[in-house]
Amino acid sequence: MKPIYLKHVEASQTLLINEQSRLMQSEGRKIYKFGFGQSPFPPPDHVVEALQQQAKHNYYSPVQGDPELCEKIAQFHSQMQKLDIQAKDVLVATGSKILIFNIMASFTKASILIPAPAWVSYEPQAKLLGHEIVRILSNYKSHWRITPEMLEQALASRQDKDAQSILILTYPGNPDGLNYRVEELQALAEVARRENILVISDEIYGFINHTGGHRSIAEFYPEGTVITSAMSKWCGAGGWRIGVAILPKTAVELRETLLGIASETYACASTPLQMAAIEAYNLDERIKTYLHNQRRILSLIGNASHQRLVKAGLHVHAPEGGFYLFVDFMPHKEKLAARGIHNSEALCTEILARTGVALIPSVAFGMPSDHLSARLAYVDFDGNAALVAAAQQEGKLDETFLQNNAKHTMAGIDALANFVTYNNLD
Ligand SMILES: Cc1ncc(COP(=O)(O)O)c(C=O)c1O
Repeated sequence: MKPIYLKHVEASQTLLINEQSRLMQSEGRKIYKFGFGQSPFPPPDHVVEALQQQAKHNYYSPVQGDPELCEKIAQFHSQMQKLDIQAKDVLVATGSKILIFNIMASFTKASILIPAPAWVSYEPQAKLLGHEIVRILSNYKSHWRITPEMLEQALASRQDKDAQSILILTYPGNPDGLNYRVEELQALAEVARRENILVISDEIYGFINHTGGHRSIAEFYPEGTVITSAMSKWCGAGGWRIGVAILPKTAVELRETLLGIASETYACASTPLQMAAIEAYNLDERIKTYLHNQRRILSLIGNASHQRLVKAGLHVHAPEGGFYLFVDFMPHKEKLAARGIHNSEALCTEILARTGVALIPSVAFGMPSDHLSARLAYVDFDGNAALVAAAQQEGKLDETFLQNNAKHTMAGIDALANFVTYNNLD
C-alpha cells in the first residue's frame, strides 16, 4: 500500500536530543543530560505502594475519571490554589498533553495564540488540527512573559477573525522556569475577557513553584480559563499518564464535547493508576513534605546554576518554578557568528560536542531560528537520594548539600559556563 495524503509529523525535538546524547554516552563520552525535561524525583513510596495494590482493577472508569479521584483532585487544587473547584469541574485523562490537544480539537475553527518561547507540543498539536497559529514573541527583558499589548497585537494579526481565539499560558514556564506576577495575570485576564478568548492555563509546574503559593489566572477569569495539570511533574510520574483539566463551571458545552472526544478515543485513564492517584491527591503531611523538599532542592540547584551562568556573561533569569533555565547567548552573538554559529541548533550541537552538555535549541520552543538560546533542564541528579538528604536537613539547603547531591549537575553547569568564558567568546 502506498499512503497518499499522509500527514507529516516529526518526532518531538526533546526526544531527539535525548537520543543523540544517549548515543554519545554509549561511545564513552561524559554527558550532562540537561535536554529531556523529566522530573528527577520518584513518586512518594506510599503512592507507589498504592499502585501495587490496585493492579487488580481491570474495569473502565467513567470517562470523566474515577469519582473519588475527581473529588480528591478538586480538594487538592482548591486547597493549594485557593480556588473553588468541585469534582464535576474535573476531567482526568491519560496525561495533560492529550487534554490540551482535545481542548483545541473541540473547536472547528480556532486561532491558537502561543507565546514564544513556549512548550514544544502546542504548535504541532494546533497544526495537526488545522488551526491557525499565532506566535507571540516575548523577550529577555519582558522575562519571557507576554504582556497585554503583545496579546492585543497578536489578536489583531489573526487571519480569521471569526475563529475562536485560544491563548495558551504556561507558568511556571517551560522552557523558562518563570512565573507571572498576580498583576500580570489580572491584566491578561482583562484582555481575554474583553476579547472572548479561551485560556488554556497550563499549570503543570504549579505545585513545584519554588516558593509554593502558586496562583492561577482562573482567579481573575474563571469563566474563560481551563487549567491543565498532571502528576507528571510535581509527583514525578510522567510515565503514569495521569493528567487533569479543570473546566470553568459554566463551560457546559465544552465539557460535553471533551467527554465526547474522550469517549471516542482513549475512553478513560488507566483505572489502577487513577486508584493510586487518589493517594497522591490526598494532601496529607507526607505529600506536603514531599513537595516542600522538591521545592528546596530545585530552588537550590536552579539558583546556583543561574548564578554561575550569569557570571559567565549569559542572559538568564533566576528560576521561580519547575526545573528549567532559558539560557540566552545573544550577548555573545558576534563571537559565535565568527565561529560559524548562526542558529540555536548549531549552537546546541557545538555545545554538546565540546562540553557534553545536552540542551534543547530554542527554535523548538518557537523562537526565531537565529535567536541563540536554549533550554536547560537541571535534572541530571539522583532525585531520590536528594529527597532523602533534604528530609534529614532542616533550614536552608547549602553549598555542602549541592556538592553532595548535585555534583554532576554543577559540573555540567561549569562546563557550559567554561564554554563561554574560556572559548574566546568573551
Ligand atoms: C509545559 C508542559 N505542558 C504539558 C506537558 C504534558 O505533560 P503530560 O502529558 O505528562 O501531562 C508537559 C510535559 O513535558 C509540559 O512540559
